[in-house]
Amino acid sequence: MKEVLKLRTGEKIIIRHITESDIDGVWNNFNEVVEEGIYLPVLFPVKSRFEKQSWYNNIQKDREICIVAFHPDLKNPHNILGQCEISSLDWDAATHVGSLGIIVQKKYRDLGIGYHIIDMAIRESKNLNNKEKIILSCFSNNKRALHLYKKLGFKIVGSRVKQFYMDSKYYDEILMELWIDDYLTNNP
Ligand SMILES: CC(C)(COP(=O)(O)OP(=O)(O)OC[C@H]1O[C@@H](n2cnc3c(N)ncnc32)[C@H](O)[C@@H]1OP(=O)(O)O)[C@@H](O)C(=O)NCCC(=O)NCCS
Repeated sequence: MKEVLKLRTGEKIIIRHITESDIDGVWNNFNEVVEEGIYLPVLFPVKSRFEKQSWYNNIQKDREICIVAFHPDLKNPHNILGQCEISSLDWDAATHVGSLGIIVQKKYRDLGIGYHIIDMAIRESKNLNNKEKIILSCFSNNKRALHLYKKLGFKIVGSRVKQFYMDSKYYDEILMELWIDDYLTNNP
C-alpha cells in the first residue's frame, strides 16, 4: 500500500511501508523527540548502529507494520518526516492486538501527516497481520496527540497516575484503544 499526500505547504509526500534505507531517518526522528523531553518516557537517545539495525530486523522478522511519511525531494535521512509503528504484544493470547507508537518531525507537525500514517497503519495491520484492536498510551498533557487519537476514534480506557518521572516532574499516562472494525465502518 502506498499513497501520495499533498500538504497545505504544497509539498507532495509519500506514505508507504518502511524500507531499510529509512532506518537513520526514523531514528533521527525518535532522538529528536527524546531530546524534546516531554512526549516519551525515554531519557537517552539511541546512537548504536547495532540497536537501530536490530530494531529494523525484528520488524521484518515479525512482519510488524511500520508506515513512514517520505519526502521525495529531501536527502536521506531528513526525508523521513514521520513514522507509525504497530507492534505485537509479548502475550501468546493477544496476537489480535497491536500497540501503536508515532512520531512526526517537529517542523512537519500539524500538517495532517500523523493522521494519514496512523490511518494506513491501522488498515495494514488488519490486512497483513489480522489485528483487531489497536492500543496506545500517551502523557496526559500531550494535547495534540490526544486530540488526534480521539479524532481517529480511540477511546480512553484508563489512566495511570504519576506513571513517569522525568526532569523532576510526574506525568500521568492515558491508556486508549480502538477496534479496527469500528474504525473501518466509520472510515470506509
Ligand atoms: C502527536 C504527533 C504524532 C501528531 O502528528 P501530526 O502530524 O502533528 O498530527 P496531525 O497534523 O495529523 O494532527 C494534529 C492535530 O492536533 C491539533 N493540535 C495541535 N496542537 C494542539 C493542542 N495543543 N491541543 C489540541 N489539538 C492540537 C491540530 O490542529 C491537528 O488537529 P486537526 O487536524 O483536527 O486540526 C506529532 O505531533 C508528534 O510527533 N509529536 C511529538 C511526539 C509525540 O507526541 N508522539 C506521540 C506520543 S503518544
